[in-house]
Amino acid sequence: MSSSVLGKVVAVKPNGNIDLGGEVGSQVTAQWKASHASASKPGELRVLFPAESVPIAAVSQGEQKAAPETQPDRPNGADVFLQNERAEQTRLNAAKGVRTLREFSTGEEQTVEVDSFESAHAAAEGALLGLWSVNHFKTRGSAPSWKKPAHLQGGKHITPVSLNGAKSDADKKKLRDVNDSLGETSTPLSWYTGEVYARAQNWSRELQETAANLMTPTEFAKRVVAAFKNVPNTEVIVRDADWVREQRMNLFLSVAQGSEQPLKFVEIHYHGAPEQDAKPLAFVGKGITFDTGGISIKPGAGMDLMRADMGGAAAVVSSTLAIAQLGLPINVSTFTPLTENMPSGRATKPGDIFEARNGLTVQVDNTDAEGRLVLADTITYACDTYKPHTLVDVATLTGACVIALGDVYSAVFTETDRLWQDLKTAGDAEHDLFWRMPLTDAYLPQISKTNADLVNTGGRPAGSATAAIFLKQFVSGLEDRAKGTKPSVDYAHIDIAGSMEAAVNTINDYQGKGLTGRPVRALIEFARRLSYV
Ligand code: BES
Ligand code: MN
Ligand code: ZN
Repeated sequence: MSSSVLGKVVAVKPNGNIDLGGEVGSQVTAQWKASHASASKPGELRVLFPAESVPIAAVSQGEQKAAPETQPDRPNGADVFLQNERAEQTRLNAAKGVRTLREFSTGEEQTVEVDSFESAHAAAEGALLGLWSVNHFKTRGSAPSWKKPAHLQGGKHITPVSLNGAKSDADKKKLRDVNDSLGETSTPLSWYTGEVYARAQNWSRELQETAANLMTPTEFAKRVVAAFKNVPNTEVIVRDADWVREQRMNLFLSVAQGSEQPLKFVEIHYHGAPEQDAKPLAFVGKGITFDTGGISIKPGAGMDLMRADMGGAAAVVSSTLAIAQLGLPINVSTFTPLTENMPSGRATKPGDIFEARNGLTVQVDNTDAEGRLVLADTITYACDTYKPHTLVDVATLTGACVIALGDVYSAVFTETDRLWQDLKTAGDAEHDLFWRMPLTDAYLPQISKTNADLVNTGGRPAGSATAAIFLKQFVSGLEDRAKGTKPSVDYAHIDIAGSMEAAVNTINDYQGKGLTGRPVRALIEFARRLSYV
């Protein structure tokens, strides 16, 4: 493939200089200065047209702010806070530059050369995330890609490359990130890791955005199989309803029974740890490919958003793909229950009682609280069968979480301070933010007030915390905590109902309005830090 260069995105230093070198370099520095752009303000952009050159999008890094006081929500101190802030500015700058140059695109395949700014990893992320768009479903307008091959969809006709010229993966890995706080690790941050993180998030966005008639459980499973096909040390297993029945996952079945679409259960195992049989990190992702609410049907307005109710599944499979592509030295097992939640003559009725895989009885008072049901049996299966040291589930679980945190933070519920710290550190590094919420038995009475052991809704008060404590009842391995000894598993539940969509606060140049794919970058970074050797 020989493609032409659409343009270059270059950093402007706080003193107004542009390090491009040669005749072009001095021309653009002069043009920038003549344009009255402020180099001290971050994110100022001018498109410059030096003689005998492609267009140059010059973007200012801006002055570094003074170190803030260390706050309780910044446990890693002022230096790390500032470094994360600079990396985020790099994402924004790279994205702004490539999106501006895209305006000059003729729609054919082209490359755009992008400066590393203050972080090679973050620049690659910003450029790839910024160029992604939902163009799969358009037959007209700029760069329509309906029925075009996958490598041209989602804005992929423009490929960002490093300004430093690295083309091969080996060369991209040499473009090391100056900011990697882990220093010498098995997998240091670089332009290469930035590409892998961003592609994973873009895949998660694509799975989420795709209309529910085109992203059924069957189609989702197919895409996972295809994506992992040539990835070393991975195994993908797709289970069907008979297997789910054999496993006595009756809560999962109770949700699926109202749908005409066959359910699927996808398992991914990645063996990257030096010791083959080391305990895995387990991810569980909610995979409701469409949530009508079932018999407790949702109001019509905005219901199309419920095509993204498989956002947890999308995030965990995408993160697992990136972890495997990076070859991180860690074992990861990932589980996604996939089904629609539909009303029908066979659907669960409010008040129906089912026996979960772990033996607890559950009364389904609201068929719209379906996420905790499919997750419950999956969590028990993952714990009992694979004995993970850490289990993290990700789910678009509660409207209450949208009310609490909006689109800014994903909510983390865990009893383990260490696990919270690790997730928070990873989220901050990737600006894919987490906020801690309560996981405590204090909310158990709210979900224990019917004829069965548990009821699947605790009513309006603390709706996210009652959902979280419901899930905890299905984690095997936490029992020891009650006896005062260390539990065999650390557990966190992440509610992404708010962060699944860039609605208002989080819309920016690399995160366009719409479904976000979050928290993919945070989860990959979490695994990278966990596997640090
Ligand atoms: N998928 C929804 C939660 C949701 C709402 C995600 C808005 C993203 C945006 C979930 O299945 C649901 O319907 N939850 C109910 C639970 C209630 C009935 C206890 C809710 O939050 O209203
Ligand atoms: Mn629901
Ligand atoms: Zn749902």
